Amino acid sequence: MIKPHGSDVLLPLYVADSDTRAQLLAEAEGLPSLLLNSAAAANAVMLGAGYFNPLQGYMNLADALSVAKDMRTCDGLFWPVPVINLTQDKSISAGSRIALRDPNVDGHPVLAIMDVTATESVTDEQIGVMAEQIFGTGDASHPGVATFTQLGNHLLSGSIQVLNFSYFSEEFAGTFQTAVEIRADIEQRGWHKVVAFQTRNPMHLAHEELCRMAMERLEADGCIVHMLLGKLKAGDIPADVRDACIRKMVDVYFPPNSVMVSGYGFDMLYAGPREAVLHAVFRQNMGATHLIVGRDHAGVGDYYGPFEAQTIFTESVPEDALEIEIFSADHTAWSKKLNKVVMMREAPDHDKDDFVLLSGTKVRELLSDGIAPPPEFSRPEVAEILMAYYQSEIA
Ligand code: ADX
Repeated sequence: MIKPHGSDVLLPLYVADSDTRAQLLAEAEGLPSLLLNSAAAANAVMLGAGYFNPLQGYMNLADALSVAKDMRTCDGLFWPVPVINLTQDKSISAGSRIALRDPNVDGHPVLAIMDVTATESVTDEQIGVMAEQIFGTGDASHPGVATFTQLGNHLLSGSIQVLNFSYFSEEFAGTFQTAVEIRADIEQRGWHKVVAFQTRNPMHLAHEELCRMAMERLEADGCIVHMLLGKLKAGDIPADVRDACIRKMVDVYFPPNSVMVSGYGFDMLYAGPREAVLHAVFRQNMGATHLIVGRDHAGVGDYYGPFEAQTIFTESVPEDALEIEIFSADHTAWSKKLNKVVMMREAPDHDKDDFVLLSGTKVRELLSDGIAPPPEFSRPEVAEILMAYYQSEIA
């Protein structure tokens, strides 16, 4: 199986032994507490689950600045986005052992224990520079920039021991999986060539066909639809609805045992190209050999060119940085001439009117009006679930 990023075996930070976990939870009750923001909590969940291998905790300022600028830690580890605990809380001092509390679960239970190696002040200017480097813009109306620039100016770095997976394991039981679990699943299925599909959408026909094309062209043994289960910007479709759509589509339209439906607990960054690289890192950690990167991957608005998330891999990711390979896909859409979904560049005799192209906004409008998106865009079974959701939102 493909090796994890940066180490021979996966080194997840979740404390797997239940007795040790119980001891640590008891200890945590007597430790000073820090209420995390959602971004830092999501980082802890990813570190716990092995997705952020080989990191052993939150980065210090030098590493965060170096990663934002050059996609390398000071020690030379390839890493695309700072994994940090940036807070407004000034009460924690270096050398302390603290309980990290979960902002996303009622009662703020302990999510992890942290040994704080350093506390550093980060200037607004440094935060602005990092935002520009990570998101390609400093525009406060970019949802990722808006979140990143409001986390705080105090950076706590150091190793962590993760004690649970926040709300993900209960709320998305059966879908949320750690990288450790996915590796075991791949092994058990006997898959070798495994293509991962990142998504934060319900999966329309273009998405489905993208997976099918990637599997066929790569001659893959299987595909993992790996959905984001964390926070999204307003207007995006909630994870439980997406999960239901995806499972229905996979059940009806893919042969048994060819597609695995799974999810990870992380908030969407909307960092386009940089997030695509992060996606590749953690898909390698979960055992995928390929990642599909299509049009405007992890993008938002008009901040990124439609294929910038592909060119970053050829222009800015050194050849030996990652073992996972990218399946770069062109814009896929229904061809009225051929009566199927095609990659647009593979239909050079078509003009724009020969394709069914619906914007996300248009689809949302249709659904809100109780009109199903056309079968050239959505499977009827998926459209039905989405219609029920939109109608319940209106009611
Ligand atoms: S993402 O933010 O998670 O990337 P989304 O769920 O919409 O958003 O996309 C999942 C994957 O499908 C990404 O790799 C994206 O580039 C790709 N994709 C989505 N729609 C299309 C399309 N019509 N043509 C080509 N690729 C697409």
